[in-house]
Amino acid sequence: PREDSLRPKRLADYIGQSELKQVLAIAVEATRARQEALDHVLLYGPPGLGKTTMALVLAEELGVRCRITSAPALERPRDIVGLLVNLQPHELLFIDEIHRLNRVAEEILYPAMEDYRLDLTVGKGTTARTRSLDLPPFTLVGATTRAGSLSSPLRDRFGLIQRLEFYGLDELQQIVERAAGLLQIKLEGGAALEVARRCRGTPRIANRLLRRVRDVASVRGHGRIGAPLVAEALSLHRVDDRGLDASDRRLLTLMLEGYGGGPVGLDTLAAGLGEDSATLEAVVEPYLLQLGFLQRTPRGRLVTPAGRNHLGWPAKAAA
Ligand code: ADE
Repeated sequence: PREDSLRPKRLADYIGQSELKQVLAIAVEATRARQEALDHVLLYGPPGLGKTTMALVLAEELGVRCRITSAPALERPRDIVGLLVNLQPHELLFIDEIHRLNRVAEEILYPAMEDYRLDLTVGKGTTARTRSLDLPPFTLVGATTRAGSLSSPLRDRFGLIQRLEFYGLDELQQIVERAAGLLQIKLEGGAALEVARRCRGTPRIANRLLRRVRDVASVRGHGRIGAPLVAEALSLHRVDDRGLDASDRRLLTLMLEGYGGGPVGLDTLAAGLGEDSATLEAVVEPYLLQLGFLQRTPRGRLVTPAGRNHLGWPAKAAA
């Protein structure tokens, strides 16, 4: 089974994000009672924490279909128009990376979200007219790693704005155990926790690591998988005991070797790593901040004492 079959289908099977689940469970129940469309939902937070999964879960709970797309696929006006006119009442439209919507698509969405109305321009120049078309009541579920990059008119049209958090160790352990069960992988004492410790607080990574562990186990002819095998398999993939991967270590190493541990600006670091700064900020930094290995200051990024220590650098001498 691929990732899809590991996704929980119902709220009750969705582990973690308890606040998010509480808020959405209430909204779903009230919506069902009123037989309306669910209010538009914006989910934001680092990648891999379950935003798409939650959209699918919401659809399942509401008993409707969920159409899935992402902003970069909505290049021409007719892409978004096509999706909107094909919606059935109360269906969900999931737009991933919604901060990347172009201006035209965004402006089509405003009346669609607010009044379930599509305003189309027909003709060109002096003969151009607007035609309005009623849409069925629907729910837009937007997902983004960067809520701050959304234009405020778009952000303001979401009734529910919810942030997904990194998962705790015990939640990750449960997620790994659940996935192992579905994939028919036998983990023994401590193995699930070992995967949990190394997945950057991220279920998608946990499931990916679990597959790599299974590969190593099957090549070695181990039927059963314990914590030492997990540690060995994941070192092979350069994932360390706190879950840092090669790009995390590259960032911290550049800061330590090139800039004395900082402070150093995001753009400087991005240029040094050949990454774009938005990706660095939304994808690489959040977990390092969460671990307390990295700090954001007004003068730039700083490696913390814990970060130095983790990379095996001596503590900075007092100035
Ligand atoms: N698999 C991936 N994320 C999950 C979650 N939050 N709950 C249960 N299984 C998952």
